[in-house]
Amino acid sequence: MVPLCFEKSMWTVVAVLAVMEAGGAFTLTHPSQPEARLQMIGLDVGAKVVLTSGSHALLGSRVAPTAKVHVASRETFDGEPSPINSLPSVPASTTMYIFSTSGSTGKRKGVVISHTNYTSGALPLSVEVDYDEGSRVLDFVSYTFDVIIDFMMCTLILGDCTYVSSDEARIDDFSGVIRSMNVNMAHMTPSVARVLEPHNFPQLKILGLGGEAVLARDAANGIVDVAEHNCLVPIGAVGELLVEGPVVDHYSFIENLT
Ligand SMILES: *[C@@H]1O[C@H](CO)[C@@H](O)[C@H](O)[C@H]1NC(C)=O
Repeated sequence: MVPLCFEKSMWTVVAVLAVMEAGGAFTLTHPSQPEARLQMIGLDVGAKVVLTSGSHALLGSRVAPTAKVHVASRETFDGEPSPINSLPSVPASTTMYIFSTSGSTGKRKGVVISHTNYTSGALPLSVEVDYDEGSRVLDFVSYTFDVIIDFMMCTLILGDCTYVSSDEARIDDFSGVIRSMNVNMAHMTPSVARVLEPHNFPQLKILGLGGEAVLARDAANGIVDVAEHNCLVPIGAVGELLVEGPVVDHYSFIENLT
């Protein structure tokens, strides 16, 4: 079980893939989380290895004091010979990640998701959300929200590329990132979308809103069509929500270990 502690960076995606391919399971954290919380996560998941970035190596070593800390960065791999070990074949029942949450009750939980659990939801989801080989996806959401795993994985499964906006660009030049990277799919909170005014970005084909209540005016940009059952009904109207499948059906929890 490997906690990842990176600022927003492409190296998180590299680390996620590395852990999965090695047959391990990852848990995502962000260096801005309180150190005590990071340590609880390290303890809850029984971390033996921590992967972190060059700039957070010290923090990474404090996440789990007895774990081995590895830095994933360009410098780590520069001049390194290609590894000769072949990777194990990973059974589908292997745990893929644990997502730690403080839960609505304030009691800590870890949601344990296997490869089977995850792919049963992610494969149909990536089709439904219209990921395709032209998808240029903005990786904007914080690592403390589990939807970020979908943005990484669905893009890798079906999409073209993912653009990871740095923590600074997320705050300072968000519109610049969308324009310069020619992003055509982005997911964000409605309040960020309100500031951005998505109609300023004609190349943005898919805008996912979540994490906060969506107001009628947020969704007024074309997704509402009452005559078409595949489209959302207007906010406030009576609708139906179907949620099913292994990824929501059955969670295993690590409950409050301390
Ligand atoms: C989730 O994955 C585990 C391990 O593969 C499996 O035993 C469990 O049945 C899966 N949950 C559901 C609801 O399919």
